Amino acid sequence: MSLSPARACGIDFGTSNSTVGWLRPGAPTLLPLEDGKPTLPSAVFFNADEGTTHYGRDALLEYLEGYEGRLMRALKSLLGSSLIDGSTEVGGRALRYRDLLASFIGELKRRAEAQAGRHFEQAVFGRPVHFVDDNPEADRRAQDTLEAIARQVGFKEVGFQFEPIGAALHYEAGLSHEELVLIADIGGGTADFSLARLSPARAGRPDRHDDLLGNAGLHVGGTDFDRALSLDCVMPLLGYRGLMKSGAEIPSGLFFQLATWHTINFAYTRQAFADFQHIYRDAAARRELDRLARLIGQREGHWLALQVEQAKIDLSTDPATRLHLDRLEQGLFHDITADAFGLATRSLVDRVAATVGELLDQAGIRRERIDTIYFTGGASGVPQLRARIAAELPRARSVEGDLFGSIGAGLAVEAARRYG
Ligand SMILES: Nc1ncnc2c1ncn2[C@@H]1O[C@H](COP(=O)(O)OP(=O)(O)OP(=O)(O)O)[C@@H](O)[C@H]1O
Ligand SMILES: [Mg+2]
Repeated sequence: MSLSPARACGIDFGTSNSTVGWLRPGAPTLLPLEDGKPTLPSAVFFNADEGTTHYGRDALLEYLEGYEGRLMRALKSLLGSSLIDGSTEVGGRALRYRDLLASFIGELKRRAEAQAGRHFEQAVFGRPVHFVDDNPEADRRAQDTLEAIARQVGFKEVGFQFEPIGAALHYEAGLSHEELVLIADIGGGTADFSLARLSPARAGRPDRHDDLLGNAGLHVGGTDFDRALSLDCVMPLLGYRGLMKSGAEIPSGLFFQLATWHTINFAYTRQAFADFQHIYRDAAARRELDRLARLIGQREGHWLALQVEQAKIDLSTDPATRLHLDRLEQGLFHDITADAFGLATRSLVDRVAATVGELLDQAGIRRERIDTIYFTGGASGVPQLRARIAAELPRARSVEGDLFGSIGAGLAVEAARRYG
């Protein structure tokens, strides 16, 4: 390892959390970004009362304290979607989604530089194996957009590496012997996999092409688990799957918007309100819709999504959890069991497991030969998911890495390799 600090940093811009890694001798790789912590939640809050912009945990707190304004989360999900070319209204003005992303990524850069005590002009950004599933052209556009944003905030040279390879490089730095490893990085927005031959001796080689045996990924992550749990267990309390007087089901659009992190604000538009009034007028029952009216009227969509996310996290360790929904109706609560969560998310787990199977088949590697599964990314905390992936490789041992830090740390290794 070089004795001087690297020129470049590695940036893990995540759907839920972001980190910045910088390789320098004798110091931890991840730079503290908020309250001494290495992660900055990928959230922005525009406080309309005071005309201020807030990032990370601070953004979530301001929103939860009840300031008027607008919270944005899961910004990265915009990159692979057609929304990226559009804009949203903030404080009476149109804000382009690109500029919203630039505002967050610029903040990451500023905070990292303040901690490092220097400017960064080169960076390696992580990227999911697929920003967009099954559409190489749209996928390319998503990366190009991220690159343009990185340049817009002041990076002069911008490289990319697959997020799971970032994690592989981090895991490899702690290895004492060679292993054939499946890296499973299951984050907020995507599940990404790499199959790699890792060892201390190979780590120093300039070309690792032969050691990387395959990548695969799909657009399923923790936010999809939140959405599935919300739709199955929580949105029915607000009228989802209820009936209109005609006997037809209540239109589901609003419920999908509210269950999806990056579209929650759509539920507060005039159009959404008109849709709601129409539903309310012709619904067979109103108790649930009164709760929905309160949720929309008080802009509690992110609050509810945060309750659902916390329930999901609790269910990773507990057999059941209780949602307290006083904000929707006095005294309202709802219990969710781990079994109900398992049922709600079964098809997501199936799709992730199938992707692992396909990766192994494509790489032409017998399953018994894999030594280790290295789990990283917050959503790899979901036990059903870990168990299903482990079942694909019965002889491999499972290692749980640093769930939130390994990608940024590995991207720092890559940044030092590429830019010195
Ligand atoms: N203990 C836990 N059990 C289950 N899920 C968890 C746990 N802790 C965090 N999560 C979930 O992990 C996700 C965030 O993980 P992470 O920070 O790795 O994602 P990210 O890197 O921001 O996203 P991506 O890499 O997909 O862009 C969130 O959906 C969060 O709810
Ligand atoms: Mg990630």
